[in-house]
Amino acid sequence: MAVDLLLGLQWGDEGKGKIVDVLTKNYDIIARFQGGPNAGHTLEFDGIKHVLRTIPSGIFHDKSINVIGNGVVIDPVVFVKELEGLDQFNIDYKKKLIISRKAHVILPTHRLLDAASEASKGKAKIGSTLKGIGPTYMDKTGRNGIRIGDLELNDWKEKYRSLADKHEAMIEFHNVDIQYDLQELETEFFEAVETLKTLQFIDSEEYLYKAQQEGKTILAEGAQGSLLDIDFGTYPFVTSSNTTAAGACTGLGVAPNKIKEVFGIFKAYTTRVGSGPFPTELFDEVGAEMAKIGHEFGAVTGRPRRCGWLDLVALKYACQVNGVTQLMMMKGDVLSGFETIKVCTSYKYKGEEITHLPYNIDPENLTPVYSEYKGWSEDLTKMTAKEELPKNLLDYVHFIEKETGIPIKIVSVGPDRKQTILR
Ligand code: GDP
Ligand code: IMO
Ligand code: MG
Repeated sequence: MAVDLLLGLQWGDEGKGKIVDVLTKNYDIIARFQGGPNAGHTLEFDGIKHVLRTIPSGIFHDKSINVIGNGVVIDPVVFVKELEGLDQFNIDYKKKLIISRKAHVILPTHRLLDAASEASKGKAKIGSTLKGIGPTYMDKTGRNGIRIGDLELNDWKEKYRSLADKHEAMIEFHNVDIQYDLQELETEFFEAVETLKTLQFIDSEEYLYKAQQEGKTILAEGAQGSLLDIDFGTYPFVTSSNTTAAGACTGLGVAPNKIKEVFGIFKAYTTRVGSGPFPTELFDEVGAEMAKIGHEFGAVTGRPRRCGWLDLVALKYACQVNGVTQLMMMKGDVLSGFETIKVCTSYKYKGEEITHLPYNIDPENLTPVYSEYKGWSEDLTKMTAKEELPKNLLDYVHFIEKETGIPIKIVSVGPDRKQTILR
């Protein structure tokens, strides 16, 4: 069977966790392909809210197997806390959760390095979640990293020591005031590694290949969003992995011609957390209202998310680089009550009107050009069928479909599993 793929089309937090949870009943396997505990994927059902960081969002379903792919970076300490959070749900994670031996390990010193690197950047800081993501991927591409499979070897602690010593020298080089007690961090880390080692480690590319041969259905779950992609995002204000469709091939070992549906998720407006350009960002009470109604605070860091109108230029770009086949629009309910809905359809760029994403989208070069839509006032959150959706919202949906040339198959009207309308 082919592999379907689900990913975010904006700057993350589009609602990927919710939709993976909704779709899991159709799949045998859910597989995360990149990122790490910088992600916060929120799921809500039966009055419970759960935030997953590294564990795939299919974990709450009885039958699905959840794979953490080779493209993911894992912090044992965060991971074990995540497992503890699942204890109350009686999930047999020793059976249902398996980890690629080729996934890389985030060390305590990776986290410290992240903090030192950000502190040394001053105003130019990325606004990283400080989970050690960048330094761990640097060690991966620098061919210095420690992989999950290494933890099964007897001498891995020697490799650990020499890498951690090198990191300490690098932290010192940054010459910033970072207070830490490495011994304490290491005690916690080594304990967490022992718990992690009670889980199944596998050669995940082989496992997924066999699963495809056996006709199993697989959904690949992305983290972050396309505009945070290391190659195609708003560099350098990005994360350190390929968040786009190609990342699923390298992050799982799935061949490109085996990918079938590409589900692209976007919010009816736009948010961004951390630094970096954001053409449609609002600095007025409209943006503040979106943030308030949409509870736009980071699931990982609690930082307020910056809010603005939907940017169709950027959305089309993301559809293009990912080969999106179906769209899913999230949080339409948050826009209920706004008299006018704006959507950016082109940019004024150095005196010209353009409809593509240029190399540099800094505000001094670029002004968004908006189309306006009549808002809707109905409360969408109790709606369950597409026939109930207000006409003005459907006009907005049709416009996005026409502009992107891709059908919007799901309209999400609230955080709960049930608040999901199929079209
Ligand atoms: P992810 O990282 O893409 O999984 O998204 P996050 O979980 O970080 O952020 C999405 C937030 O929006 C979470 O708090 C969700 O519970 C919430 N959410 C998801 N879909 C909807 C929706 O349609 N409406 C509303 N109001 N909230 C939603
Ligand atoms: P999910 O999967 C939103 C942002 C950070 C920062 C930049 C780099 O929940 O959508 P990093 O920690 O990777 O070095 O941070 O990327 N960022 C996210 N923003 N959602 C995420 O994940 C994010 N993961 C990283 O805020 O701007
Ligand atoms: Mg999130």
